[in-house]
Amino acid sequence: MDPYRLPRNVVPTRYDLRLEPDLQTFTFAGEETVTLAVREATREILLNAVELSIERAEIAEGSGRTLSAAVALDEASERCRLTFAEPIAPGTWRLRLVFRGTLNDKLHGFYRSTYKDAAGRAHTLAATQFEATDARRAFPCWDEPALKAVFASTLVIDPALVALSNTAVTQERVEKGRKVVRFADTIPMSTYLVAFVVGELEATEAVSVGGTPLRVVCTPGKQRLAAFGQAIGAYSLKLYEDYYGQPYPGDKLDLVAIPDFAAGAMENLGAITFRETALLVDESAATHAELERVADVVAHENAHMWFGDLVTMSWWNGLWLNEAFATFLEMVAVDAWKPEWQRWTTFGVSRSAALLVDGLHSTRPIEYPVAAPKDADAMFDVLTYEKGASVLRMMEQYLGADVFRAGVRFYLERHKFANTETGDLWSALGEASRQPIPAIMDGWVFRAGYPLVSARLDAHKPDAPAKDLHKPDAPAKERGCELVLTQQRFTYLPQPPAGEKPSADAGTEWQVPLQVRVTAGGQDSVRRLLLKEREARLPLPAGFEAVLVNEGGHGFYRVYYAPDLLLRLLGRLDALAAIERFNLVNDAWAAVLAGLMPLTDYLDLTARFRGERDKNVWAVLTGSFASLNRIIDDADRPRLEALVRDRVGPVVAALGWEPKPGEDEVTRQLRGDLLRALGVLGNVPGVQARAAEVYAAHQSDPSAVDANVWAAVIAILGHAADERRHDDFLGRFKSAKTPQEEQRYLYAVAACRVPALVEQTLRRTLNGEFRTQDAPFVVRTLLSSVHGRAAAWRFVQEKWDEMNRQYPATGLRRMCEGVTGLATPEWEGQVHRFFAERKIDLGGKTLRQYLEQLRIAVALREREGANLRRYLAK
Ligand code: BES
Ligand code: ZN
Repeated sequence: MDPYRLPRNVVPTRYDLRLEPDLQTFTFAGEETVTLAVREATREILLNAVELSIERAEIAEGSGRTLSAAVALDEASERCRLTFAEPIAPGTWRLRLVFRGTLNDKLHGFYRSTYKDAAGRAHTLAATQFEATDARRAFPCWDEPALKAVFASTLVIDPALVALSNTAVTQERVEKGRKVVRFADTIPMSTYLVAFVVGELEATEAVSVGGTPLRVVCTPGKQRLAAFGQAIGAYSLKLYEDYYGQPYPGDKLDLVAIPDFAAGAMENLGAITFRETALLVDESAATHAELERVADVVAHENAHMWFGDLVTMSWWNGLWLNEAFATFLEMVAVDAWKPEWQRWTTFGVSRSAALLVDGLHSTRPIEYPVAAPKDADAMFDVLTYEKGASVLRMMEQYLGADVFRAGVRFYLERHKFANTETGDLWSALGEASRQPIPAIMDGWVFRAGYPLVSARLDAHKPDAPAKDLHKPDAPAKERGCELVLTQQRFTYLPQPPAGEKPSADAGTEWQVPLQVRVTAGGQDSVRRLLLKEREARLPLPAGFEAVLVNEGGHGFYRVYYAPDLLLRLLGRLDALAAIERFNLVNDAWAAVLAGLMPLTDYLDLTARFRGERDKNVWAVLTGSFASLNRIIDDADRPRLEALVRDRVGPVVAALGWEPKPGEDEVTRQLRGDLLRALGVLGNVPGVQARAAEVYAAHQSDPSAVDANVWAAVIAILGHAADERRHDDFLGRFKSAKTPQEEQRYLYAVAACRVPALVEQTLRRTLNGEFRTQDAPFVVRTLLSSVHGRAAAWRFVQEKWDEMNRQYPATGLRRMCEGVTGLATPEWEGQVHRFFAERKIDLGGKTLRQYLEQLRIAVALREREGANLRRYLAK
């Protein structure tokens, strides 16, 4: 039997739960009565519990007969075994448990969070975070998503505090000096969605969204930061009721900001919890990126109220049914709310993050077996979220948005209050579209990787057998009239690295929905086809000028153009949409990493983008320069800085330091991004000096400067900082008035290059000065920065155990991603030895993926380092 799954002979239908947290002693007392359906007679009941002490357990039948149980808790398996002296007969039983636990500081289960008020006084609140498998830390339960039940909760608290849970309060009374708050019954739902928050909380006025009261809840004094989050909350809730064709499944909705929070936010039905940066923001002082972050996260969690909460995956292998849909609908809602943000273009950045990991031999299919809790946690990655959302978007575009939505509505209607498998979604989409959905979709969801679609011109005749991706033929000469498209799996490394097996289904094809735009005689035409075979041929019209393969940019694949086709596209960049230019550069850079395109060709290509005005295209360009910065020798760095100056300079000169009247928000963000690229990666003294002037002039009134520029100024000065500036920023981090301001100064402090100050910053990641929700991300930033990585890597090796004790598990895992920036052969060896000797398991395939990314970076250095130096010396 699977040691991580509970037997189904006894299942819960209802929890009557009473919890009494004590914010002084950081403990809680609990009591619950679980209504059970016993399906087969048994003398033993298994359920989940960990870090709880169970003081009493007894079970009662309808008749009132009561049996007490012997309790055995096994911390390793996170289970509790109840044994009875005589068999429990099939039927309905009520299990009563009395228990105690600790309000821990690891940001999971029932935990404590601390914050200081404006006067500097410390306060504590209690909150929960149960996904994936931590409800069992707060109360003994059947902690699996398929075991849905009704929750009827009561919180017993200090009368000065406020208590929140998933549903509205039905009764509040004071008993023996304690406030007893009772909440309405929930819908049948999974344990991981239960939530409690207790503290000195303040709520905004509720806005009514189709009858549902929607509030933002936060610690005192922060309500002035709530309006923006509440606005996107209300907008998206309304949009989803329409999109899904189902009413919101709760009786109220609170968006709750928690000062210490491991993830970004959590979709507890009716009581969504957030880290403060993801909900609270001052709209007038925030950058576009900061506002977009809040809009994204709120829209994402709201989407889960249906996808995840009303209909839930049966087990963690199907997590994408939650997360990919929430990510997809987050785009739909934000795009409808602020069309001028061009959210689907920016989604290209997310898609490309998924293409990166999915181009590894150590990738996994979107749906992937999960056993242990660690493996469930490891499922929250770019493959579940970003690849999942990308293939949904590709499918939506292929079927048509209306047909796709009809399928989604069927699915929700049919499975509401229940659990599903991926096949259930296929059936619903199949009914709506009358298309063979499994045939098209299985390859994208159940198989690892994705295709590289190669495009070349040919006069005639299909060519001979499959070629090796990493040994392409000499470029085909243009002879005339056919476009040849071939597919094969894309990987960066020609061979799996040591320890990775080659994939078993190599050579099988994907069904690739292709949209090809052909330009001939000055006219565009779009050809749609489903590429099922290895190769397809399209006849080209007379007067052929150019061809763009992934038109509209929705496909989850890469395109490799034969050199002549690429040249034709580069000659007419103006005719490409921003997402198409994005994909062109992104695929070219991937081709460099894979050894399919010489680095020097790519660097020449970047020179054609000096006039580029899309921030996402610039993100790829500057991201590739930052990668080169990690493989270049220190002595050559000034030359790379000069290249950055050459590429970025012209647009910055055109944009200037101040917004033009009537300029849109995205352009203002672009200015901020590019100033920052010039001041940090380009290390331009003039830009740093100007930033210092802006800072000095506006210290007392930052509102005189555009927020995007102001945030860039702080980042640039952080990079250029001496000790005085560093200390100033550290002080401003501590006294920041908004979560965004706090983050800007925190990362500016981490950007400082002075070695002694880098050491100080590292110490602060473990001495309590930085929150444990942020500290691992600061370490990650230092690991991947050229000025911090040597010190950070030493620090991680030395302090690993302490980090493991202090940081939430998700943070520790994400921190390790920073090792991918340790791009020298020596470091690579050290990294392998460290993780092997310590026997560190990050869950799933996470560590193997980081190691393969590191291999790719080191291989790039070995293959292209000398060429890069020569190119820059020219
Ligand atoms: N369900 C997740 C929260 C979560 C993440 C729980 C990881 C357990 C482990 C939530 O819906 C989510 O996806 N949050 C994202 C933000 C979102 C906008 C992508 C997060 O926390 O990063
Ligand atoms: Zn989510």
